[in-house]
Amino acid sequence: MTYKLAIVGFGTVGQGFAELLQEKRKYLKDTYGFDFEVVAISDPLKGSIYEENGINLKEVLSLAQKEGKIDGYKRGIKGWDSIKTIKETNVDIIAEVTPTNLESGEPGTTLIKTALAEGKHVITTNKGPIALFYRELMELARENRKLLKFEGTVLSGTPAINLALITLAGANINEIRGIMNGTTNYILTQMDTGKNYGEALKEAQGLGYAETKPDADVEGWDALAKIVILSNVLMHADLKVSDVERKGITGITLSDIKKAKEENKRYKLIARAWKENGRVKARVSPEKVEEDNILFHITGVNNAIQFQTDILGCVTITGPGAGRRETGFALLSDFVNIHCSLIDRCCEK
Ligand code: HSE
Repeated sequence: MTYKLAIVGFGTVGQGFAELLQEKRKYLKDTYGFDFEVVAISDPLKGSIYEENGINLKEVLSLAQKEGKIDGYKRGIKGWDSIKTIKETNVDIIAEVTPTNLESGEPGTTLIKTALAEGKHVITTNKGPIALFYRELMELARENRKLLKFEGTVLSGTPAINLALITLAGANINEIRGIMNGTTNYILTQMDTGKNYGEALKEAQGLGYAETKPDADVEGWDALAKIVILSNVLMHADLKVSDVERKGITGITLSDIKKAKEENKRYKLIARAWKENGRVKARVSPEKVEEDNILFHITGVNNAIQFQTDILGCVTITGPGAGRRETGFALLSDFVNIHCSLIDRCCEK
């Protein structure tokens, strides 16, 4: 069995996914018995390629790294936009990895809708379409009998959505709280060692953690998108972005951090969702966390989520929340899970 894939959006995450695909080809074949070809890559800034027999990922990654563009790739058809790529390349799975836009959800929403309507499975790390149009997109996927997977929208490749949906199936999740943004946690951790805010932000950007617009991280929008996704997917809520109270970390000074330290506390950007009078509410804001709370010990780019369940009590998952390969891995795991669903049995190792 050989899947044909298209990668739409070839920034940090798209490239991270391509790297992992290249490295894991043999492993996927030996372990799960399938092969794949990436036949198309499309990015409005970097260029696009359609090569029916499969793009050489090593070559294209090297071009992206050296030249910042992939136009110089020697073979295939060039210049197709993302919609044409989705419609005319005859692929099975679209990896949609364009940047998050929390206002309109575009271009991701149109790309995902087009892909589903054209009968393609979709894997995405794009928070905009899922935070804004989760129900509509899932309905479209169902109508077209295709799968839409979005593990990487929350906590990059650290299991969050599938952990709760699949492994915790049957448990009621009554409350969710956690550190859901790697950039701000990295900045706050660096500030705890005395570094200033600007320096720490630059480092986070250099490491590929930050969103295209840094405001999305430091003003809490990214964490807000994630808590909306978790609330709607796992707590049966119907929250909109505008329903959530939000405060970022830009008001926190080195002196605030020092004072918190004297009280044995640490500032963390906490996202929460809880039930109140039968409705789900959510908030994102910096909180001073005490040392005996697990979240106190989550540092750097690491994130953590605590699911308050009816049966198990509190279940905590922690791991990286951002990064090129870490988020690329979420796409890889969604891809493997689609394969497992299609062959109608659990993944076997
Ligand atoms: N910019 C995000 C973060 C990336 O820092 O967590 C993952 O959504």
